[in-house]
Amino acid sequence: MRIIKIFDTTLRDGEQSPGASMNVDEKIQVARQLIKLGVDIIEAGFPFASPGDFDAVKRIADEVKGAVIAGLARAKEDDIKSAYEALKDAPMKRIHTFHSTSDIHLKYQFRVSREEALKRSVEMVKLARSLVEDVEFSPMDATRTEIPYLLEVVEAVIEAGASTVNIPDTVGYTTPVEFGNMIKTIKERIGDKAVISVHCHNDLGLAVANSLAAIINGAGQVECTINGIGERAGNCSMEEIVMGLKTRKDFYNADTNINTKEIIRTSRLITRITGMAVQPNKAIVGANAFAHESGIHQDGLLKEKMTYEIMRPEDIGLQKTEFVLGKHSGRHAFKDRLQKLGYELNAEEIDTAFKKFKHLADQKKDIFNEDLETLISEEVSKIPQTYSLVDLSISSGVSVRPTAALKLRVNDDVIEKMEHGDGPVDAVYKAIASITKTKSILQKFEVKSVTGGMDALGEVTVSIEEDGKTVRGHGADTDIIVAAAKAYINALNKLAVRKK
Ligand code: KIV
Ligand code: ZN
Repeated sequence: MRIIKIFDTTLRDGEQSPGASMNVDEKIQVARQLIKLGVDIIEAGFPFASPGDFDAVKRIADEVKGAVIAGLARAKEDDIKSAYEALKDAPMKRIHTFHSTSDIHLKYQFRVSREEALKRSVEMVKLARSLVEDVEFSPMDATRTEIPYLLEVVEAVIEAGASTVNIPDTVGYTTPVEFGNMIKTIKERIGDKAVISVHCHNDLGLAVANSLAAIINGAGQVECTINGIGERAGNCSMEEIVMGLKTRKDFYNADTNINTKEIIRTSRLITRITGMAVQPNKAIVGANAFAHESGIHQDGLLKEKMTYEIMRPEDIGLQKTEFVLGKHSGRHAFKDRLQKLGYELNAEEIDTAFKKFKHLADQKKDIFNEDLETLISEEVSKIPQTYSLVDLSISSGVSVRPTAALKLRVNDDVIEKMEHGDGPVDAVYKAIASITKTKSILQKFEVKSVTGGMDALGEVTVSIEEDGKTVRGHGADTDIIVAAAKAYINALNKLAVRKK
């Protein structure tokens, strides 16, 4: 059975989704979860793109062990050197460099000839190879590149030292049969001299289908993202490609190293961090993916699961919601549960999380794993607290004008403000805006309940925009107005970091 390498680019191409930017701590949290998931390669970012990207790649390279850490670099000297600087301390590292090859890109965007593009690609692969052992090259917009030229580039970069050639369908243009044939032609030409990777975008909804067609025809690596996030319509979805191979091993005769039981947790983490919700009918990780509504289906399932279930929910880590802890649980049980959930917090983080847990337990009888994960993710994705909520009281009702009285800590001062609004959230947001003097505009406001029941923890996600910068904020609380306040404050804290 062939093992297909999973190259996860959630932290690079995934982060290019509008509004999906993550801070460094969030990226580390994602990278650690990707290790638990068992990905082979983590593309941690594009170090030359910004100091923030450089820091994130460097910290992942320094702190996250267990997979090859890759950094993206254009076929330019400065980019490649910067990628090397960020990656150099990783035990397993890869420089992923790219240059466009389609005439459309060469003529209109880069204004270079095919010969120049080829020469630059070869030189930059050689430079990268002089710095690290493991070099990947991508001929960008490969699927709109003439095959003879594409083959020429592929052969030349392998000769120059690339051990992986990644064939990107940059604009999501190809079709499964066409792409399969392209990969077959490349495979026939290069044999086992390098691993063929594929990187498909989902503009026509074919990213997974195209990647599977490539695997059938000899690709040995797939580039993908959790929940399929990424530039425009996104990338090939990791959970779909992995479960496709696992479920139809008989057909593909291929599998991956992924621990599929970590899929749902990883998917939820990405949703929580990026604020990008998964559509309910999304394959594998959508809320309805394992929900059977029709009577005929339910009847069949009760008789024999195989009648309508091709995968078991447990295979992706879905379990019956498990009651975990309550008001009387002690610190030890709390710590133990966190460890079982895979969180390694230091003593100080456990202290703060435990206080939050006790506070939650006063408001909510049963605390489930999902509640705990929401609580902990606030703890792990720490950002400097320019603003923090001190107190909030609301009056609102059918005949009462919604009013918020807010106390907010701004650096070391506590400022109080009272505001009216069209509704309680509006009143709170006006009070926050007035104290922080923010010029940002609220673009999106979403509320969801973390688990079921009247006392469920409510989670609010907001997007705010200022000067072209969009950030998302999250807040969770059993009181949805408090959750809304926390989400807005969280977004403003992120904006403050980005401004600095
Ligand atoms: O879509 C694309 O072509 C890319 C490359 C940088 C691999 O993301
Ligand atoms: Zn891409």
